[in-house]
Amino acid sequence: MSGKKKKKYTIRCAGLNISFFIFFLLSGNIMVDARNYFDGVIGGVWNDIDGKPIQVHGGQVQKIGDKWWWIGEDKEDGYRTQNGISMYSSDDLYNWKFESYALRAIRNRADMDTDPYFVNLYGHLTDLQKDEVYQAINTTTSVIERPKMIYNKKTGKYIIWFHADGPTEEAPESGYAAAAAGVAISDSPEGPFTFLKRSRLHQLPDEEYGNEWYEQPGNRGFARDMNLFIDEDEVAYIIYSSEENRTMFISRLNEEYTDLDVPQEPVGLAKNGVDFVRLYPGAQREAPALFKYDGRYYMITSGATGWEPNAARYWVAEDIFGEWKDMGDPCIRENGIPYAASLTFGTQSTNVIPYDAAAGKFIYMGDRWNSMDLSDSRYVWLPVYFTPTGEMELRSTEIWDLSFFDEINTIKFNPDQLAGIYFRNEDLPERMKAQVRNKDKWEEKEVPVSWDTDITRLPPASLTTVTGSFIVNGISQSVTVKVANINEDLLYFIDSGAAEGSDLFDSIQVTGLAPNLINRLPDQPFQEESGWGYTGTVGTNEEGADMDYKNPESRDAFTSGWFAWYNKTIDYKLRVKNEMYRLTMGFQEWWNTGRYMRIFFSYKDNTGNEVIKEFPSFYNRTESTQDYRFELADIHPDDSYITICVEKTGSADPIMSWLALSLTDEITSVNNVFSSGRKLHVFPNPVSQNQPFYVKVTGEKDYRNMKVFIYDLSGQLITQNLISDAVTEFRNLLPGGTYIVNLEDMYTKLIVK
Ligand code: DGJ
Repeated sequence: MSGKKKKKYTIRCAGLNISFFIFFLLSGNIMVDARNYFDGVIGGVWNDIDGKPIQVHGGQVQKIGDKWWWIGEDKEDGYRTQNGISMYSSDDLYNWKFESYALRAIRNRADMDTDPYFVNLYGHLTDLQKDEVYQAINTTTSVIERPKMIYNKKTGKYIIWFHADGPTEEAPESGYAAAAAGVAISDSPEGPFTFLKRSRLHQLPDEEYGNEWYEQPGNRGFARDMNLFIDEDEVAYIIYSSEENRTMFISRLNEEYTDLDVPQEPVGLAKNGVDFVRLYPGAQREAPALFKYDGRYYMITSGATGWEPNAARYWVAEDIFGEWKDMGDPCIRENGIPYAASLTFGTQSTNVIPYDAAAGKFIYMGDRWNSMDLSDSRYVWLPVYFTPTGEMELRSTEIWDLSFFDEINTIKFNPDQLAGIYFRNEDLPERMKAQVRNKDKWEEKEVPVSWDTDITRLPPASLTTVTGSFIVNGISQSVTVKVANINEDLLYFIDSGAAEGSDLFDSIQVTGLAPNLINRLPDQPFQEESGWGYTGTVGTNEEGADMDYKNPESRDAFTSGWFAWYNKTIDYKLRVKNEMYRLTMGFQEWWNTGRYMRIFFSYKDNTGNEVIKEFPSFYNRTESTQDYRFELADIHPDDSYITICVEKTGSADPIMSWLALSLTDEITSVNNVFSSGRKLHVFPNPVSQNQPFYVKVTGEKDYRNMKVFIYDLSGQLITQNLISDAVTEFRNLLPGGTYIVNLEDMYTKLIVK
């Protein structure tokens, strides 16, 4: 994007332009340069059309009718406003006109009976009611933060909710003891808004709080940093930091948007998950901004560090009161700006503007607070990026304008068109459906996809992430899916410690791809009748147990598993025959440590002797699969079991996630250590003829001196080269065409143009 583009601001009202211009000249007013850009992470002073720095912090922008409205905190006089909640309007989002202090703060209690403005709004109230209003919105003790407005189509009223804080009798010095939400109403966005009430919001019944200390019994229902959201069905929600800013709540508002739909009292009447939802207890998130894109709810929040910036996070949900998923920090620093991505580029979220929600055009609004001079806090607006599968990104964009959206967020594809797990190459989809946006219209396209892994070459039952590549509108895209090599050789697949069941195990059953599978349950203690299971005792160390569950609720094969107690082993006993076997076992690391382990198995031979066969010790510190082959020829006919044992060979006790035993017709002496984290990268891809390309391998192992082979599509070896360093250069003498690059059992397609 080029530098600042400027034009003169003219009042866009046909016929009046010239007279306004002359009026401005005669009245001595300065003509302000009109803006047609945002300065993004730079965060320069943003003046209104009268040339005065905009005062609308912790705010929100929305379109009502033809106009954009920006509501926020007036910090002209510092921490406590002397004016009230400010309101600006704009036709184009760049140039803002100060409209009013939409909700005015009250300087003296007496003003409520003398100042016509307040008499008009509150004259009908009793003295006690006036006292309550005064307590909530006065200029001496009240804290008025993060105001947001919504328009109620049904009642035609505008409603403001804000963080209405200040001292209480118990804490007369505190600015944040009231921890409440305030609400006000008006017939027009510029006000005057009539303050209605200040109150705490939802809480759980005491007995549901357990040992959490965030709020004390009798002093619950906090509501601090807040925001509002109206869904497509016109149901409105308030989103607020509660429980001493430790937990985020979303509560449904009533039809008028003036109160909670189900009152906070009596406690327990409003139900968690039905009338409100309590998100991430203890996560300590503030500054919520909720928006909806492509049928999903997104919420970006900040941490809680006063006026200092911290790392953003965003959460996503399919259902506003359903399960929210933590998606991490969306910030990516792309340039040499002096603001760290891990500090949200020196900002704190306040709102996301749905500039054109259907077209994927959203603007992040952040405050760059200046705690030394709050009035000089800046506004940082950034275009929200989405990956084609809907992950949100905030990049350190500098100068930008709304035409930016013509270029970004123009492709999307729904990962739901992919199955949970694939088992055969032929099941991997050959084509992907994608949507391409041209201006504001989405069009559906179908494009071919190529997958980088041959499932039949993967160790049996090892759940692996593979990548499919495809091109949409000339832009390379990729998707990942989980695959597992499941076939009729599979005899046992035990998802260890999967107390709540196992997705992979269920899929194996449903697909019927392993008709010879012996175990029909994910895991169990050994039983004679079924002939398989673990033999150790499960429980606590104090009870003298051998092992205990790790993540028993997880249905993912690698996530659930066992850990052995001090000096103990993890043992499984399986009924077998004299056959050639392939044993694959999955490992995870749950405590961020490295473990030396060994797998051995024992059985009784046909002379009655105990035989022990052991595989070499290995080291694990991540998700990995061990893959062994062995042959049994002399197993005792009346005691045909092997006991497979995982033991430590270093100081850390062993762990394991899953076990699979398959038949094999080939015995190699090599133990293949397979890590699903490894990957073969070839770039650039496509590469032009005679241009070099590079091969890089990532993973746990040292790949130097291993050979990379390049085949043509008929399987003919064309060339080979040793991997020398982190990145290996290949002189490219290949004629144009498609090739297969192979290192060990990893394959990638290379296109030479
Ligand atoms: C963080 C909040 O997000 C702001 O709105 C404000 O309340 C400050 N804390 C005050 O320290």
